[in-house]
Amino acid sequence: MKSAKITVVGAGNVGATAAFMASQKALGDIVLLDIVEGLAEGKALDMAQVKAVYPAGGAVTGTGDWQDATGSDVVIITSGLARRPGMSRDDLLAKNAQIVKSVTEQVVRTSPNAFIIVVSNPLDVMTYVAAKVSGFDKRRVVGMAGALDSARFACFIAQELGVYAGDVRGVLMGGHGDDMVPLPRYTTVAGIPLTELMPAEKIDTLVDRSRKGGIEIVNLLGTSAYYAPAAGAVAMAEAILKNTRQVMSCCAYCDGPYGIHGEFVGVPVMLGSSGVESILELALTETEQAMFEASASHVRELTRKVDAMLA
Ligand code: 2OP
Repeated sequence: MKSAKITVVGAGNVGATAAFMASQKALGDIVLLDIVEGLAEGKALDMAQVKAVYPAGGAVTGTGDWQDATGSDVVIITSGLARRPGMSRDDLLAKNAQIVKSVTEQVVRTSPNAFIIVVSNPLDVMTYVAAKVSGFDKRRVVGMAGALDSARFACFIAQELGVYAGDVRGVLMGGHGDDMVPLPRYTTVAGIPLTELMPAEKIDTLVDRSRKGGIEIVNLLGTSAYYAPAAGAVAMAEAILKNTRQVMSCCAYCDGPYGIHGEFVGVPVMLGSSGVESILELALTETEQAMFEASASHVRELTRKVDAMLA
């Protein structure tokens, strides 16, 4: 069987970590691409040397040449500026929109049948940019945010309860911003609803910490998180390439569900060989629906701005 080809665009912290994780999971042949001379090549060489220690894993090729990305099955776009302390994700809009636009043009040229997974911020709008510029079937363009945000929520819950993090399924919707909507009612620990295991005030604290999970790390590191964002993107690539039909929150094209019409926003989806196989429509309370709408309307406002910028 032909092995899958995954191109990771951007050999910064998120991109290099994603390439490394994908290679350790032997997801396929990986191309790590960056315009900064030597960066992708150097990191790929370093990764190749890991094979002498941990022999498992797919090959990683480092390059600055888009021709090497030709025929990719999945392209993970991590290019763009990352947040610094004091910046919101939205502050990156203008610069990253141009970067994601030009990267997407190269994806269309070299890999017209690829699935695109966007990681660049502001996430929901950059996913919209990749979909608009590529003109790909919208099920093939998804953004990585929900996987990360629900992992953060799950991690904080696991730490609080002292349980295995893998037993916690955090469910979360909305845009990748401070107004994202964690859903404790649908969040479970080994199948037990979180609301049965923790008092409401404690849950509220963890919800708030999850919403601010990105900036907590930016303030500690001076730059954006990368291990968990990379893991989220690789998990999505794996679900698509192996057709696992895993349910996770992703930024996906929503036209109908949750009263959203023709927009990219975070919703629970099933990921498989067609990309977004379906969107799961959860019954929301009035409060949850209102929170989701507020978050979606923030994304809509940024989408309008980006449309004007790219016009
Ligand atoms: C985060 O850490 C990278 O946006 C990303 O939330």
